[in-house]
Amino acid sequence: MNKYGIGLIGCGTVGSGLIRNLAKANPLLRERLDIHLEIVAAAVKDITKVRDGLPVKPIADWRKVIADPAVQIVVELVGGVDDSFQIAQTCLKAGKPLVTANKALLAERGHELIAQAHQSNAPIYFEASVAGGIPVIKVLREGLVANQLLGLHGIINGTSNYILTRMAEAGSDFATALQQAKDLGYAEADDRLDVDGIDAAHKAAILCLLAYGFLPKFSEVPVEGIRKISSQDVSFAAQLGYTIKLLALVRPHGSDQVEVRVAPTLLPNRHPMASVHGAFNAIGLLGNLSGPVQLTGRGAGPDATSSALLADLAEAAKNLRDKSPGPQIPQPDGKLRLLQKGESVGRFYVRLEVEDRPGVLALVAGIFGSEKIGISSVLQPEGHGAGSVPLVFLLEAASESSLEKAVAQITKLPNSRSPAHILRVEDLS
Ligand code: HSE
Repeated sequence: MNKYGIGLIGCGTVGSGLIRNLAKANPLLRERLDIHLEIVAAAVKDITKVRDGLPVKPIADWRKVIADPAVQIVVELVGGVDDSFQIAQTCLKAGKPLVTANKALLAERGHELIAQAHQSNAPIYFEASVAGGIPVIKVLREGLVANQLLGLHGIINGTSNYILTRMAEAGSDFATALQQAKDLGYAEADDRLDVDGIDAAHKAAILCLLAYGFLPKFSEVPVEGIRKISSQDVSFAAQLGYTIKLLALVRPHGSDQVEVRVAPTLLPNRHPMASVHGAFNAIGLLGNLSGPVQLTGRGAGPDATSSALLADLAEAAKNLRDKSPGPQIPQPDGKLRLLQKGESVGRFYVRLEVEDRPGVLALVAGIFGSEKIGISSVLQPEGHGAGSVPLVFLLEAASESSLEKAVAQITKLPNSRSPAHILRVEDLS
């Protein structure tokens, strides 16, 4: 039997899950792959804290873990982009395979790490960085390798999906639902990454790299989170036959541009993604040969993430055994650029609060018309004498810049009572 020494760096929720699940997975890995994985060294921030099941005494200095001759594969579970970058770079420079769940690291400093991996001929395995238990990285690398990807989209932040589901189904408020997601171990240590869409954008950037060999400059990716979603929007969307999801989207435009963005989006209830609830994730991929593929599964939580980490560890061990260089990450060639904000065309939901008075609806509709934006649906509940009423529009496809011009004119109307609430609408057909 082939034994492989693992060096574990970082041991929070995900690391503890890995320790627990490694013991259960080893008999299967032995039976299926003739491989046994063993944690032989570990580095953690707080060495006084008791870590159940950790078979070695942890140390504080991660450099010693990487340098330890018994360590053949390094698992980085530190999170963040600063220390983790040093760890990843040192590991790759040492020529050791790196397994990581760190999407921020890959999305924000991927260019440097990919260059280092190529230079040192050391592989990076990152299945656990996107969508927890869904093996989407393997699907892109292997199952769909002969396809041109015509686009992909997904619900890839479990915490946000959990919050939106609780708001829609149980009428929970945002703060209560977020606390529940934290208690269940879904949320990041800094939950702003989840609710502000950044975590989903990190994952979208990684999927874009695999699908198109293009890693966008992360600071330029348009990202909106779910803080601005109110129970009113959830209810109006439902009345219009839609469900609000935090959607990540990656799609090519022509031969030299790729659109990458994350935004709360209305999806038609009939689309399978609209019924992906709780902390579940889903990813839709459109291959030119395969046609549409949808993967659904647990996107967050220590067990689902362990599934991906253990698959990567097993693959890393198998490649060491077989003296295979392991998977190569495409090195971006600089030919593609990110579609800039304002260049994108889409459908929108616009919720206004306006004076309840004859002629106001006509005024607003006229402004959309003057910007050549079609209206596909309008909703206006009765005002009951409150002086103002919500006006909700579902619009036909329009450029972001036309929409902005129309909304700026509407906001200036003396009848306008509050800023417009704008959400994306995707039919995903
Ligand atoms: N915090 C992430 C989520 C889990 O809620 O999806 C790990 O990526």
